Amino acid sequence: MQNTDSTRPVALVTGASRGIGQALALGFADAGYDIVVTDLPQTEAELRKTADLIGRRERKAHLFALDVSDRKQIDDVTQRALAAAGRIDVLINNAGVLKPSLLQDLDEKTWDTHFDVNVKGVLMMCQAVVPHMRERKTGRVINIASIAGRQGVATQGHYAATKSAVITLTRVLAQEVGMDGVTVNAICPGIILTEMGRNNLGSEAAVRHWEDVAALKRLGKPEDIVGPALFFASEQSAFVTGQALNVCGGIYFH
Ligand SMILES: NC(=O)c1ccc[n+]([C@@H]2O[C@H](COP(=O)([O-])OP(=O)(O)OC[C@H]3O[C@@H](n4cnc5c(N)ncnc54)[C@H](O)[C@@H]3O)[C@@H](O)[C@H]2O)c1
Repeated sequence: MQNTDSTRPVALVTGASRGIGQALALGFADAGYDIVVTDLPQTEAELRKTADLIGRRERKAHLFALDVSDRKQIDDVTQRALAAAGRIDVLINNAGVLKPSLLQDLDEKTWDTHFDVNVKGVLMMCQAVVPHMRERKTGRVINIASIAGRQGVATQGHYAATKSAVITLTRVLAQEVGMDGVTVNAICPGIILTEMGRNNLGSEAAVRHWEDVAALKRLGKPEDIVGPALFFASEQSAFVTGQALNVCGGIYFH
């Protein structure tokens, strides 16, 4: 399937079947982008819903099953997405996992899964997509990290370590590709009420507690991440690279 409208910008979103990834896919479609929507094969039904909602916005959705911890799949999907969409202007590395555990009890498999998806997935997506951006002398990479990666959170040591790594990869890649017109930035969401966010909080009492802590007296909606991501994707942020922006309603300030 060839893109017939090469003037329309294209964003690729990983983990786009639900939560923050779905909100980003729809938000970018609303802003005029065609979207390459990707997620694990087992999410196909939900991913199709995301694609349908993009279609209703009269934007193209190119749908691909993709496990970001699998380099073969990444290389294959990148080639097929480029053939279908014509180009990738914005890469949003959103896919992520969080399974809480005390560090004392953490098993190696859980550690490895978190690093394979949250860190190696980001690296391998960048390795596949950024060369194409550098060739075109323009591109935007937006990595979804977390305030956990700045602060560290009990029962999330392994997850927080992956998100610290994503912030560091963001800073380093920005320095390595800036000369070719590609910017690389990260967003650090606070507590966003998605499946991951709700599972993590565990109870309505915990929701109330964190709402009270937040300066804005509420927790995040997936849509709260869209505006900052559109900023990083836009010309308005042309001189911003290697940065990590907290989007947390004021629960963390560093
Ligand atoms: N919800 C929060 O409070 C919060 C806070 C900070 C950061 N984040 C980050 O935001 C991102 C999105 O989180 P969310 O809250 O929407 O979570 P979510 O669990 O609702 O969605 C995560 C998505 O990633 C996909 N995914 C998981 N493993 C994958 C893999 N190997 N390959 C491809 N896709 C995979 C899932 O299928 C799902 O669609 C994650 O990187 C997460 O760490 C979330």
